[in-house]
Amino acid sequence: MTTLVAAEAASTPLAGQPYVRPATPADDAFVEELQAIAFGPGRFARTAFRVRERFPIDPSLSLIAEVDGTPCGSVWMTPISVGRRKGYLLGPLATHPNFRKRGAGKLLAREVSQRALARGEGSFVLLVGDQDYYCPLGWDITTPGNIQFPGPVDPTRVLLLSEDKSLAKSLKGTIAAF
Ligand SMILES: CC(C)(COP(=O)(O)OP(=O)(O)OC[C@H]1O[C@@H](n2cnc3c(N)ncnc32)[C@H](O)[C@@H]1OP(=O)(O)O)[C@@H](O)C(=O)NCCC(=O)NCCS
Repeated sequence: MTTLVAAEAASTPLAGQPYVRPATPADDAFVEELQAIAFGPGRFARTAFRVRERFPIDPSLSLIAEVDGTPCGSVWMTPISVGRRKGYLLGPLATHPNFRKRGAGKLLAREVSQRALARGEGSFVLLVGDQDYYCPLGWDITTPGNIQFPGPVDPTRVLLLSEDKSLAKSLKGTIAAF
């Protein structure tokens, strides 16, 4: 009985604190609106968007952050490979402006990466983002020019998370199918 109560308490979201859950088709309109707010019309020209045009996202790795039952953030994952090594491209990651600086963004990035890597099929999580935001979460700077995207990217923003700490420097190749 005590164990059951403890387990329920552990899974109950704390008031005012972000928590994550899998996205469902009912979240589609929220996610579309959120991405428009966060990235604007220029989002369709982004190189990461071009990757997602070529290779489908994995809907089972789409997560929603909520605060007190209100959706406030979203993240997607695209299974990819680089140099025949399987992994994932994280993004877009966005939090609604009214809910920023509560930890939802970092929670989404951490949680979706843990869930993806725990499957044991892919060994890295790649993204294009700010070092100051992602490096404290475990992402490392890649070797500039090693990873070829289907469009221009700022090489200092190409970051990689892996249990294999040498992979960020050594991974090399064009982004291809998983
Ligand atoms: C970036 C974003 C997802 C952060 O969401 P969030 O829910 O506010 O993130 P968290 O609450 O987990 O973290 C907030 C902290 O990160 C900092 N931070 C936010 N964006 C940052 C950035 N680009 N670079 C460095 N630090 C950043 C905040 O200043 C804040 O710092 P503090 O904790 O010292 O106050 C959100 O601002 C967003 O949706 N931005 C627009 C879209 C975008 O840029 N997405 C990322 C693309 S890679």
